[in-house]
Amino acid sequence: MMREAVQRVRRLRNPGSVWRLRRYAFDLRERSPSGAGMAAPGADLVEVNQADLDEMRASCPELTDRKYEQLRERIGAPDITAYLIRDADGTWAGYCHLAYRRFDDRYLNHVVRLRRRQALFVDDAVFRTHRRRGLHTFSVQRRRELARERGMRTGLVVINDKNTASIASYRHVGIRPVRRLYFVRPFRVMIQLPWRRA
Ligand SMILES: CC(C)(COP(=O)(O)OP(=O)(O)OC[C@H]1O[C@@H](n2cnc3c(N)ncnc32)[C@H](O)[C@@H]1OP(=O)(O)O)[C@@H](O)C(=O)NCCC(=O)NCCS
Repeated sequence: MMREAVQRVRRLRNPGSVWRLRRYAFDLRERSPSGAGMAAPGADLVEVNQADLDEMRASCPELTDRKYEQLRERIGAPDITAYLIRDADGTWAGYCHLAYRRFDDRYLNHVVRLRRRQALFVDDAVFRTHRRRGLHTFSVQRRRELARERGMRTGLVVINDKNTASIASYRHVGIRPVRRLYFVRPFRVMIQLPWRRA
């Protein structure tokens, strides 16, 4: 026990032992460009369902068994909606989510509690072969519309400071930082601080 604790403390000295992240908020009421004006014309978000998920599994080696199971568990879930990203040519390109009320983030070991009109944009990925074509930016724009249609007013997202691509996608919808987060990896602890301008 003691030895394990000492090892963990030692691991704190390793570079990358603390991840720096930010929680951002953004307004959902502003309209995104629609149709052809979206970042990836012809692309679509399809609410997760067994048939399309199985097709994605058969055609996308990057979809791990763990992620397949997680997406399958989310079919029809009340507080989280999973979407499969379909590229303009009809191929499956990734997935993304909108969460409501409460999201238990097991990866970053913290719980995000959402107010009545807040939606969390979470668990986004575009498969490598489909990257850098605007699909993630499209998924953010389209989810913004979908959340707004559900009566939501504010979007929230947590992004690692090193994730340039994700920050760039969300910048298009006017994110502003609201909280600093530090994930202490050896202890799997998330420390949250209010955002203060330097
Ligand atoms: C982050 C991720 C979703 C981006 O997907 P994508 O479809 O390639 O993103 P887009 O094509 O919409 O590009 C979005 C912006 O990021 C920029 N970008 C994309 N990849 C980049 C990279 N590797 N380095 C720097 N910038 C990058 C694009 O130029 C674009 O910026 P712009 O709109 O200002 O021109 C994808 O890289 C991914 O799945 N990463 C692993 C999982 C992950 O990080 N998820 C996000 C968690 S919040």
